Amino acid sequence: MPLLIKGGRIITATDDYTADVYCEGETISRIETDITPSVLPAETEVIDAVGKYVFPGFIDPHVHIHLPFMGTNAKDDYESASKAALAGGTTTLIEMICPGPDDEPLVAFNEWNDKASPLAAVDYTFHMSVVRFDERAREQFRQIVNEHGIASFKVFLAYKGALELGDADLFAMLEFAKELGVITTAHCENAEAIDAMQRRLIAQGKTGPEFHEPSRPVGVEASGVNHLASFAELTGAHVYAVHTSCADALRAAVDARIRGVNIWVEAVAPHLVLDETYAQKPGFEGAKYVMSPPLRNKSNLDVLWNGLRAGYISTIGTDHAPFDFGTQKSMGRDAFTKIPNGIPSVQERVDLVHTFGVITGKIDLNTMVSACSTNAARLFGLYPRKGAVKVGSDADLVVYDPSCEHTLSVESSYSKVDYNAFEGWKVTGRASAVTVRGEIQARDGEFVGTIGRGRLLKRPPTHG
Ligand code: URP
Ligand code: ZN
Ligand code: ZN
Repeated sequence: MPLLIKGGRIITATDDYTADVYCEGETISRIETDITPSVLPAETEVIDAVGKYVFPGFIDPHVHIHLPFMGTNAKDDYESASKAALAGGTTTLIEMICPGPDDEPLVAFNEWNDKASPLAAVDYTFHMSVVRFDERAREQFRQIVNEHGIASFKVFLAYKGALELGDADLFAMLEFAKELGVITTAHCENAEAIDAMQRRLIAQGKTGPEFHEPSRPVGVEASGVNHLASFAELTGAHVYAVHTSCADALRAAVDARIRGVNIWVEAVAPHLVLDETYAQKPGFEGAKYVMSPPLRNKSNLDVLWNGLRAGYISTIGTDHAPFDFGTQKSMGRDAFTKIPNGIPSVQERVDLVHTFGVITGKIDLNTMVSACSTNAARLFGLYPRKGAVKVGSDADLVVYDPSCEHTLSVESSYSKVDYNAFEGWKVTGRASAVTVRGEIQARDGEFVGTIGRGRLLKRPPTHG
């Protein structure tokens, strides 16, 4: 059904103006100051957007949905994750494919895609993790990029014995990524240092969730970013540091950029609004707030917001990694090293950024759009199909009520986890209508769309 969004304030990464947007089929076909509904097809749905913002659909460049990890499996599937994303204004997800070192990359790609395709209501794509890089894997990665359109890799400089990629493989795969013209996203820490510090803390009887941060302090993350940047410098590869949590790590990336390294930085919602004191909550409640890199000292939060404002940080994702408190986080009651890492926030991200970033004046609306949508589209080969309000772009749009006050809670969340890290938080702003390729998929925080309508987005290499 054609759709006319009337009288909204269109906010993109660069613009801010009032106009009407008309969508026919799956794309935006007209943007004009005054489109008269009476001359449009009778079945056109008209959305009154006066007093509201019209954003391009938000893109979350870092989520985990199917995630076998730390002896368990993340709780969401594409149905619950799509509903959560759409209710919060996110129309495209980029999920990490995270196989084990013995798994074949093509089998993993098919496994992840088979889970997504019947249940996705958002459009989606993947970052393909490289956890092993030998001749056999190399040819499969080539196929995954060139035939399946998955134009980004993921590497972990963490999680010893599981997802970690060693230096020889890291160097070789970055050379390969450079040859293919694809960007490599990276979890930057140091698996060996963390393993040694975890052992030391556990031996000292320091077993609670509050010791997760001391086991992987800011210096470990900064050295991981520096390491990635050095290898990028030597190979000419383009890299992207995911979930950057602290000033020291951001400085390492900025320092590399000044040297001419092609490195981009992602922040994630939990690190922007939560600090280490949450992981120090008594009675094991801190386990809800265990993620890696960990929540940091409060002083880092403003550094991240300032980094976004200054353009040092390009994107805000979530690193949505949903594990139940009751049955999964509790696996680490006797040792924090066994708490599955992750803080889910795919539904909450946009409202958190609006409330704690825009309303407080830390970033402006254009920065919110560039960080939560357009920059990810540009970096990962989706622009201008996604991340734009332009004639010819996919009609992925968010009509956003900037004054709607509501409370975040586990009850109003579509994620299957049994807790909400932001329980009881009052936020201002909510998506009142969310479209994916011209069809309304969510209204006023409720999913109203079609499960299975989401499409795998093929992306060409754009980092050649
Ligand atoms: O704590 C986290 N971040 N869990 C998910 C896996 C990862 O490192 O992204
Ligand atoms: Zn990570
Ligand atoms: Zn992650």
